[in-house]
Amino acid sequence: MEVILRPTAEDAARLVAHVIAHELRANPHLVLGLATGRTMEQVYRELVRLHREEGLDFSLCRTFNLDEFVGLPPDDPRSYRHYMRRHLFAHVNIDPRNTHLPDGMATDWEAECRRYEALIRRAGGIDLQLLGIGRAGHIGFNEPLSALQSRTRVKALTPVTIEQNAPLFGGAEHVPRRAITMGVGTIMEARRCLLLATGAEKAEIIARAVEGPITSMVTASALQLHPRCTVVLDEAAGALLSQKDYYRWLYENEPEWEWYRTHGFA
Ligand code: GLP
Repeated sequence: MEVILRPTAEDAARLVAHVIAHELRANPHLVLGLATGRTMEQVYRELVRLHREEGLDFSLCRTFNLDEFVGLPPDDPRSYRHYMRRHLFAHVNIDPRNTHLPDGMATDWEAECRRYEALIRRAGGIDLQLLGIGRAGHIGFNEPLSALQSRTRVKALTPVTIEQNAPLFGGAEHVPRRAITMGVGTIMEARRCLLLATGAEKAEIIARAVEGPITSMVTASALQLHPRCTVVLDEAAGALLSQKDYYRWLYENEPEWEWYRTHGFA
């Protein structure tokens, strides 16, 4: 795991967008795993800008989102399908047939989860998986006690997650109780993981996920076992980490990050 600290949320999101853009330019057929949530909005804004102003090409790219609420149709403004259309798909040259999310309206949940896993497999697996982190420490909707080898399945949401999503639904009582989510095991098979977290309210859970023990109570901690995981934080989200000086030194000195240091991300 490598940790990159950026001064502000905007800097952190911009860096993440540029990592995605780099990978997409290097491989136009990139299979990209996508995430939702407020944190990602700035990432998608920058990707849209890169498409409009610098010709970033999504025409051959295929995407798989982490999760979707159970019971929400794709045209419901609170669905993740709608979120993706609003923040990214409608503004770039991606072929809608290449964009995939679990179907929240599926009646046979198990069949839908199997279908989603098979689609990812058929695409050759995920090259780059973008991740946020929930206040409960989840990646996707892998709530506490999710098996660290779990596959795509339906998960019941914890009270903390329901509370976190309440504003979007106009009250906790309207938040769906379940979601279909890629499993921790599914996420761990991505060739590269890129987790973005910003803001002071994520500081405690980030410290547990990055520097704490690997535990299914904080499913993001499983990423410590991933061979290529980059965690990008703003100063506020990284505030409780104990090895900040070491992380800063790595970013300032590792050749991998030289392009970024010399292109406005110093
Ligand atoms: C939801 C999503 C997660 C996301 C999290 C954080 O729970 N299923 O994938 O990481 O929200 O959201 P935010 O960025 O709004 O804090």
